[in-house]
Amino acid sequence: MCGLFSYMTLKNTLSSFAGLDLLTSAVIVLNPDGLIVFANAAAENLLDSSFKSLTHQRLGELFLNSEELLTVFHQAVAHQFADKRQDLTLERAGREALHVHSIVTALDNPEMPVLIEFRENVQQLKLDREERMIDQSKANKELIRNLAHEIKNPLGGIRGAAQLLELELPERQLRELREYTQVIIKEADRLQTLVDRLLAPHRLPHIVGDVNIHEVCERVRSLIMAEFPHGLEIQRDYDLSIPEFRGDKEQLIQSVLNIAHNAAQALAERIRSGDAKLTFKTRVVRQITLAKIRYRLALDLHIIDNGPGIPPEIRNRIFYPLVSGRDGGSGLGLTLAQTFVDQHMGVIECESRPGYTDFRILIPLP
Ligand SMILES: Nc1ncnc2c1ncn2[C@@H]1O[C@H](COP(=O)(O)OP(=O)(O)OP(=O)(O)O)[C@@H](O)[C@H]1O
Ligand SMILES: [Mg+2]
Repeated sequence: MCGLFSYMTLKNTLSSFAGLDLLTSAVIVLNPDGLIVFANAAAENLLDSSFKSLTHQRLGELFLNSEELLTVFHQAVAHQFADKRQDLTLERAGREALHVHSIVTALDNPEMPVLIEFRENVQQLKLDREERMIDQSKANKELIRNLAHEIKNPLGGIRGAAQLLELELPERQLRELREYTQVIIKEADRLQTLVDRLLAPHRLPHIVGDVNIHEVCERVRSLIMAEFPHGLEIQRDYDLSIPEFRGDKEQLIQSVLNIAHNAAQALAERIRSGDAKLTFKTRVVRQITLAKIRYRLALDLHIIDNGPGIPPEIRNRIFYPLVSGRDGGSGLGLTLAQTFVDQHMGVIECESRPGYTDFRILIPLP
């Protein structure tokens, strides 16, 4: 009798949850053992699992790191609070981690004492990350510029002194000692080129005119094709309705070239086997926030390659100066690209996995 009663209340309560299917946030309801007894449609979506399979799982099995959630669950069962909110990153086997805001609510129902709501935090996390990146890249640039100036000043002196020293070398030792002064001069020259490149973006005049993004892409395409004539296919997928915008064409060519050049270099192996592919894709996006400002319309240029992807150990740092994953790379290409796109109020985003790397340049359109 008691069993039938609780079955009936369970059934009634479950049907009262049906309205939760209309919500956009994911909701699961648990029994005292942590078994899921109800999941709304948004939860099926978020957890990539059907109602049927979800209702056979325990909370502890949903994620690889469920401990924190389980602790709060037990506190809710013990009625230690009415509801508790946290931001969590929930790891899943073989899938991307979920960034969620979770609300655990203690219910007045001994059969189903806990309801958990998950709201995906994608947008917030992305905004936070972007904001941090902008601040950090500003601070970095300042540091680099000051450092480059400090290095530049004594360099001329060092080089000049080495030349004078060479003139003073005694004739009989000239041959063996000249090797050393030449090392000093050559290294001073190398450093000079490096600091010149570091300081370049701030010195170049910003020449503003009407820019057609497809002219920019075509120019880069011909430069890349001249350098990699065989084994690399360059595809264009253009939205020709994109309007012209005010900008510095040469700077934009340099930005796109630096990105495409990296892609072509990363494609070396596929170029040898003849199936390297680079794609230029242009689109517009509407209502987008770039560097904290909202725009009605923006250019969305993708430079996509089918190479090995960005090495994971530098993935978060590729836009920082002097970070390189290549032998002989100076790690300035992307820093420059970002500086130039910055000057157009735009941003560069990047998504990369083996076989697919997509650099995305977003620039506001009139
Ligand atoms: N499309 C890509 N695929 C794989 N790795 C990439 C790609 N683009 C960039 N990278 C990685 O990011 C690093 C940084 O690129 P960046 O252009 O800033 O410097 P660099 O190419 O090493 O040197 P520089 O461009 O100054 O000659 C590269 O060394 C490479 O490891
Ligand atoms: Mg580069």
